[in-house]
Amino acid sequence: MSGKISRRDFIKRSALGVVVGGTALSTINIETFAKTAAAKAVLKRSGDDVIVKLSENASLDKTGGSVKVNDELMLIRKSESEFIAVRTVCTHKGCDVELEGTKFVCPCHGSEYTLEGKVTEGPAEKDLKTFETMFDSDKGTVTIKMPVKDIN
Ligand code: FES
Repeated sequence: MSGKISRRDFIKRSALGVVVGGTALSTINIETFAKTAAAKAVLKRSGDDVIVKLSENASLDKTGGSVKVNDELMLIRKSESEFIAVRTVCTHKGCDVELEGTKFVCPCHGSEYTLEGKVTEGPAEKDLKTFETMFDSDKGTVTIKMPVKDIN
């Protein structure tokens, strides 16, 4: 028997792939999938607080995991029960800093910051802005305390 498949077999196999693939996709929460793809956390506002549900952000399951809450805010899991919320805008001239391992690095002029936002390498002189976080293990949420004016 040759390794070739007939056109009919190819169509049958392709159709099976669509059915199986389609079924698998239909079980995924499309809204969550889209937000994960865009590196966004699932948010819920409560007054001035931003609440991040850990169950909807698998990348926060482990220490060192992070999510972009919005274009300028990153939430990082520092330990089992500690989280860091950092505004990812360089204090030098406003470029977006990037998380590289255990530090933030600015791609524009090379400033570096610790995970807690402390500047360790210039030209930036000021620390990144950070926000208080509260972890509720019973609810599985992290609350970021931030004034509405700080949300874009
Ligand atoms: Fe970040 Fe200049 S804007 S180092």
